[in-house]
Amino acid sequence: MQKMIINSDIVVGKISKNIFGHFAEHLGRCIYEGIWVGRDSKIPNTNGIRNDVIEALRKLQVPVLRWPGGCFADEYHWKDGVGPYEKRPQMINTHWGGVVENNHFGTHEFLEFCELIGAEPFISGNVGSGTVREMQEWIEYLTFDGESPMANWRRKNGRKEPWKIPFFGIGNENWGCGGNMRPEFYADQFLRYNTYVRNLSGNRIYRIACGPSDHNYRWTEVLMKQAGYAMDGLSLHYYTIPGPHWGDKGSATDFGEAEWFTTMRKTMYMEELITRHSTIMDVYDPKKRVGLIIDEWGIWSNVEPGTNPGFLYQQNTLRDALVAGINLNIFNNHCQRVKMANIAQMVNVLQAVIHTNGEQMMLTPTYHVFEMYKVHQNAELVHLHLETTEYKHGNESIPQISVSASKNEAGDLHISICNLNPNESAKLCCDLRGGEYVRVQGRVLTAETINAHNTFEEPERVIPQEFSNARIEEEKLFANIPAKSVVVLKLKAK
Ligand code: AHR
Repeated sequence: MQKMIINSDIVVGKISKNIFGHFAEHLGRCIYEGIWVGRDSKIPNTNGIRNDVIEALRKLQVPVLRWPGGCFADEYHWKDGVGPYEKRPQMINTHWGGVVENNHFGTHEFLEFCELIGAEPFISGNVGSGTVREMQEWIEYLTFDGESPMANWRRKNGRKEPWKIPFFGIGNENWGCGGNMRPEFYADQFLRYNTYVRNLSGNRIYRIACGPSDHNYRWTEVLMKQAGYAMDGLSLHYYTIPGPHWGDKGSATDFGEAEWFTTMRKTMYMEELITRHSTIMDVYDPKKRVGLIIDEWGIWSNVEPGTNPGFLYQQNTLRDALVAGINLNIFNNHCQRVKMANIAQMVNVLQAVIHTNGEQMMLTPTYHVFEMYKVHQNAELVHLHLETTEYKHGNESIPQISVSASKNEAGDLHISICNLNPNESAKLCCDLRGGEYVRVQGRVLTAETINAHNTFEEPERVIPQEFSNARIEEEKLFANIPAKSVVVLKLKAK
């Protein structure tokens, strides 16, 4: 039995809608084919952007989208991606498959895409191979209202009004693909570049510094100490690798319970990472002004056999749905410090929410988790106490369930629950304190097998179903959460 107490009158914090953000890089078939098909394509599009993808993403209420990378960001020169297409130079995407990048999807196209799906833009600037001037001029091009060379060039390229750019990243993974820097050196670079990322014409930029990967606690320590005062957010990257190591990341679909268990365990490690990085941040920023921005997360497996290894195309199974549900619960529960997260990546790459194949489009199990969890966006995280049983495998064990709960403006409670155990359902008994509820309804995402997934031929094998196995009785909620499932319950306030 899983015992839980929810104190819905104790609000822990606001769950920023940006926790449900996404990331799209010039990598494989994410931008080209997945989002951008060009104006002359037979695939129905709006100014070159696929209509089917726009429609699916609008339903998700994508709050924020990070672009153009990733590692690509520190090789990207924005001036190559504006103006007439025939004048845009081609380059080689050295990081990702060595393919030709024609720069047809650039600043204007990205910002139109954001407008079409209703997302706020988060642009990553180039620190690794770009100049301070280049970054300064990009900000001027994007946001300056008055007379200036860059603002005039923007107008000449068809955009009269400046855009609002709420989020700007100053480099990406500068400890690695973004320039192999030491934290001391990067902290100085951050301060230097950041000086010229100006708030122009009423636009206010939330400045995100490159943070650590995984358990590089020293990076966080140095950045917070040297430059914490000048940043609004510090990023953190952590991927769940189902296989034994980066050289063998494991198959996306061909796995048994051992790999399932390892994946769940490694996903739960996000809890420790956030707790420990936050503890360091608390020393330098006790008021929690600086957000921890998990701007790359998700499962990273081997690519699908026969596909370009540099394109990072992988299938998405019920296991991915659990990885998404667990991570999002962790982010919700840390909403005092975690102000944004961006799953890697939006379409056709890593833990994508959408797959495309020519004219076809398919929603993955991860898409459905984001759709089910959107009720948490901007809601209030409420206090909960959980005593869960353990899911044991071999000599190891992890908690059987992962939960977060929030209250919306109407006072309705949403509880998202993941049952990590693929063999046993979880009986839940929850004391409902601090609020009165008249009924409960819910949806569940599960399947017959742990590696069930959608395909273009069978796109609805893993989709949410109505969940009727929950009831409220005398201020208690009872539910039976199926094995290997993600459930979201709505408790209607009296
Ligand atoms: O998301 C794929 C890659 O992972 C990104 O380009 C990089 O930032 C990270 O290492």
